[in-house]
Amino acid sequence: MPADRSRPRVLVTGASGVLGRSLAGRAAAGGYVVRGTGRGVTGPGDEWTRCNLASGEGVDAAVQDVHTVIHAASSPKGDTERTDVHGTMRLLEAARRAGVRHVVYVSVVGIDRVPYAYYRHKLAAEREMQAGRVPWTILRGTQFHEFVDTMFAGMMKLPAGFVPTDFQSQPVHVDEFADALWECVAAGPMKRAPDVAGPQVLRFGAMMRAWKAARGIRKPVIHLPLPGAVAAALRRGGATAPEHAVGRMTWEEWLRERYGTALP
Ligand SMILES: NC(=O)c1ccc[n+]([C@@H]2O[C@H](COP(=O)([O-])OP(=O)(O)OC[C@H]3O[C@@H](n4cnc5c(N)ncnc54)[C@H](OP(=O)(O)O)[C@@H]3O)[C@@H](O)[C@H]2O)c1
Repeated sequence: MPADRSRPRVLVTGASGVLGRSLAGRAAAGGYVVRGTGRGVTGPGDEWTRCNLASGEGVDAAVQDVHTVIHAASSPKGDTERTDVHGTMRLLEAARRAGVRHVVYVSVVGIDRVPYAYYRHKLAAEREMQAGRVPWTILRGTQFHEFVDTMFAGMMKLPAGFVPTDFQSQPVHVDEFADALWECVAAGPMKRAPDVAGPQVLRFGAMMRAWKAARGIRKPVIHLPLPGAVAAALRRGGATAPEHAVGRMTWEEWLRERYGTALP
């Protein structure tokens, strides 16, 4: 239970990540004490405690005296099953033992439509939440602008970019998504909260043109017709949620803010 009842303590897992840093920076308005956690020795938040969800080290200590957990830690490029599925199970068990009142799980739009291995693990983690060890909320969001930016930089490393230009995306500003998570904390357990998606559904081709213009990159882009079920689902818009286009900042506005260049 929180030591100071007027300022509930919220544990943010993955506090050193893109979303975690935004969450920690936007907690003050709600009057929360943020305890950040991750594998590093320090990180964002009013307090920091080290924990590794894959090994279980530090998990019990991390949830002590915590009112609500926002579970944002994830390892898409590492051992996803150990961190995202078993780690979530471990975190929930520890939270139940410690008397945590509410866990908010950060999830991704389309994990039940796009048959990508990482998404299957996110779906398995959602099922751990739904088992109800602790009262819960799941909030799914679409891709953050930062994620698309990093992905496009990877696609443009060679002298020409090879891009699946027909994939659909609906990027959302990470701060808008963080605000929606804080609203979930304030509202209390509600099971599945309404998805949070960006204001526009766009094709990678148009997004890449704007990205190149913002960065002053002139390399050619060659369409990459990717085979397989994951690519087909992304072409169909499996990772978008047009009916939940609640985000306000567009991709072009974000590029202007990030790179400070005027787009044509
Ligand atoms: N990126 C997107 O576009 C997007 C969109 C919608 C939803 N989401 C979801 O939002 C969440 C955060 O995404 P993000 O982009 O902010 O991720 P990120 O920048 O990659 O951060 C991941 C965080 O997880 C922590 N972490 C990884 N392995 C860990 C472990 N074994 N034990 C403890 N902590 C561990 C990392 O901390 P250390 O490395 O410091 O330990 C880091 O703080 C994820 O659940 C993701 O699925 C992401």
